[in-house]
Amino acid sequence: MKSLSYLNKYLILYKWRLLLGTLFICFSNYFGVEMPKIVKNAVNDFLNEIDHTVEFQSILMLSVQLAGVYILFSLLKGFFLFLTRQTIIIVSRYIEFDLKNEIYTQYQRLNYSFYKKNNTGDLMNRISEDVSQVRQYLGPGLMYTINLAILSVMAIYTMMQINVKLTLIVLAPLPIMSIMIYRVSSKMNALSKFVQVEQSLLSTIVQETFSGIRVIKAYLREAEMQEKFDATSNAYKDKTMNQVRVNALFMPTIVFLIGLSTLLAIYYGGLLTYRKEITPGDIVAFIFYINMLTWPFASVGWVTSIIQRAAASQERINEFLKIVPAIQNPTEAPLSKLDSIEFNHVSFAYENSVDKVLNDVSFCFKRGEKIGIIGRTGSGKTTLLNLLLRQLDPTEGELKVNGSNLKFINLDAYRKQIGVVPQEVFLFSDTIRNNIAFGVVDTEVTEDDLVRVAKQAHVLHNIEAFPDKFDTLLGERGVNLSGGQKQRVSIARALIRKPNMLVLDDCLSAVDTETEDVILKSIAEVSNDIITVIVSHRISSLRFVDRIYVLDEGKIKESGTHQELIQSKGLYAEMYEKQAKDKQ
Ligand SMILES: Nc1ncnc2c1ncn2[C@@H]1O[C@H](COP(=O)(O)OP(=O)(O)OP(=O)(O)O)[C@@H](O)[C@H]1O
Ligand SMILES: [Mg+2]
Repeated sequence: MKSLSYLNKYLILYKWRLLLGTLFICFSNYFGVEMPKIVKNAVNDFLNEIDHTVEFQSILMLSVQLAGVYILFSLLKGFFLFLTRQTIIIVSRYIEFDLKNEIYTQYQRLNYSFYKKNNTGDLMNRISEDVSQVRQYLGPGLMYTINLAILSVMAIYTMMQINVKLTLIVLAPLPIMSIMIYRVSSKMNALSKFVQVEQSLLSTIVQETFSGIRVIKAYLREAEMQEKFDATSNAYKDKTMNQVRVNALFMPTIVFLIGLSTLLAIYYGGLLTYRKEITPGDIVAFIFYINMLTWPFASVGWVTSIIQRAAASQERINEFLKIVPAIQNPTEAPLSKLDSIEFNHVSFAYENSVDKVLNDVSFCFKRGEKIGIIGRTGSGKTTLLNLLLRQLDPTEGELKVNGSNLKFINLDAYRKQIGVVPQEVFLFSDTIRNNIAFGVVDTEVTEDDLVRVAKQAHVLHNIEAFPDKFDTLLGERGVNLSGGQKQRVSIARALIRKPNMLVLDDCLSAVDTETEDVILKSIAEVSNDIITVIVSHRISSLRFVDRIYVLDEGKIKESGTHQELIQSKGLYAEMYEKQAKDKQ
């Protein structure tokens, strides 16, 4: 339960609304508790009429009046109930909103390495499932608890004023009901976990069928997929049936125990009436009060299990919020234009492996230089770029930017100067315009800018072929670009930044050599005064660079110009020959 105390800051934030809600609960219960008294008076008056102690005419007038008051009180009770929900349930929605934002902000703070370790399903769950469990506690949970406390005090006090012993006897079954409902609710929760597992399996199958429909059809696997779906669907049904069976105990338990209370009220109340200790109207009022207390007492069990679930969810949320990102911006100090970058004996191993992906890498490059990095697949090129962008920190050694350790440099200012085209292109389900303009913050993107960078990335003619041009929607609701087109839009996004360092990670792999040529030439034109780093496993991509580093098994094995490397007849020359042969 301790984990839920994290939410106190929000409860304090919304304290006035909550207090108002509590006040409304008081009002609504006040009218609720007054209503049985009216009935009680009416009953007693009617009985007196039968005994001829009161006149019929006056009793008729009186009962019309009582009915009027009764209706008025019900309306008032309902009105305040409405206001209660309008305050307390709304507060729970506000807190849900705040909490979701807090979690989302934390997601954005966390680094690359966190996302490598956690799967998307879990991450999504935290923001949807866990938060909604917590909201259940803040909304219905709090509301019913406050309501139970206030109503119990008011109703039981009124009942005791009538007769203490009768009150204790008729209320005896209610705590038993609370306990039984708690048991049923806990069982339900346990079962609902199994149901959830089956449900997510089911939706995974459906989702994979949708996205893999072409593969399924091409390999004629429809029947197998159907069988798989049937089996999971059956398991889901069985689990739901278990849940339904337990759920069926809910109402009978309540009805049985309420029946018991009512029976006790009539039996023992009858005895007391016989002894003239209470009036027949009191018995009627008691039956009303028992019914009034039914749901609040039943809700004790229900709310307890809500709170337990919420505590478990909040525990997970707290753990998540506590994670401190490994990489944070150390300073707000301004950073001058990127001038030089140096890798100084840098080694790197991923957390989950002992092998070093990069081993004692040292090299440096300066403004105006175009650097090529080449290496076989898996040789550590992308890892090296992740270190360069400070998505990762080196395990040994250091990176120096303009002569200072990158760890102590304003990271935002540093990244602002970099335009990066990642190996795995990511485009948002948005217009081409917005996808390219994503590259710049705070500045207006003009049509000319868009046209310029699209031309440089050699994708303008493709965009103009679409009827909506730059406003063409990408993704599920729009067009699907080819692999090469995506890469070029991604290059345009990096170029529009007017970066001081342009980093291309194998981003020309899906374009033909002629297109590659056009793009490389236009990049060469704009990169006179900036640092350009081109990573590739294709030698042709490096034809305009000043110096090439050959990465192999985590080490820089060779470096030099294309000519020098060919002459030294090492790894590079070998790759060159092989690639030239492949082309023929
Ligand atoms: N998150 C990770 N955890 C553990 N190992 C990783 C991780 N990412 C990459 N590796 C490993 O590090 C090595 C280098 O990977 P990297 O992606 O840097 O290679 P690359 O040179 O970019 O290859 P490619 O040309 O195929 O893009 C590989 O052996 C890879 O399996
Ligand atoms: Mg790579």
